[in-house]
Amino acid sequence: MTPSPAETNLATYDDARLAALYDHDNPPGEDHAFFRQVAEEAGATRIVDLGCGTGSLTVTLADEGRAVVGIDPAEAMLAVARARPGGNAVTWRQGTAELIEPASADLVVMSGNVAMHLIGDVWHATLQRVAAGLTPGGRLVFETRNPALRAWEG
Ligand SMILES: C[S@@+](CC[C@H](N)C(=O)[O-])C[C@H]1O[C@@H](n2cnc3c(N)ncnc32)[C@H](O)[C@@H]1O
Repeated sequence: MTPSPAETNLATYDDARLAALYDHDNPPGEDHAFFRQVAEEAGATRIVDLGCGTGSLTVTLADEGRAVVGIDPAEAMLAVARARPGGNAVTWRQGTAELIEPASADLVVMSGNVAMHLIGDVWHATLQRVAAGLTPGGRLVFETRNPALRAWEG
């Protein structure tokens, strides 16, 4: 049987070899700085990092004494996240947006290309869970790649 897009993504990331290399290939940059700036400007105190991966952004969001939950379906990525310095300050959960507690967060972030993995019904279901998980006035902040930049040619 052909795997669904969501299953394919999970199989890709739930690989200890990929997870071990992920941070080398995806070092923190201005994207992470942007998410931290949004958290600061919003005065966020309860943050969910959905699709947190290896947690390199997640632990820095927890730096400021905030309550931070990192959620990801790929156990191999979470294993790296748990073991990283600062990992003890984050609550790590294996799964998807279904794990976001109702009205539990004033900020939900999806960094990297998480949003681009959430295709069709999964995207809509994720947005509904995120909306239910946000407190009034809360924000969802995510990024996507810009195909118009044709980064693959660089
Ligand atoms: C490119 S990584 C981004 C990781 C991290 N946010 C970052 O900026 O480095 C994409 C992550 O999305 C996760 N993912 C895939 N499907 C997901 C879903 N349905 N819900 C939440 N996360 C998902 C993958 O397991 C993977 O860790």
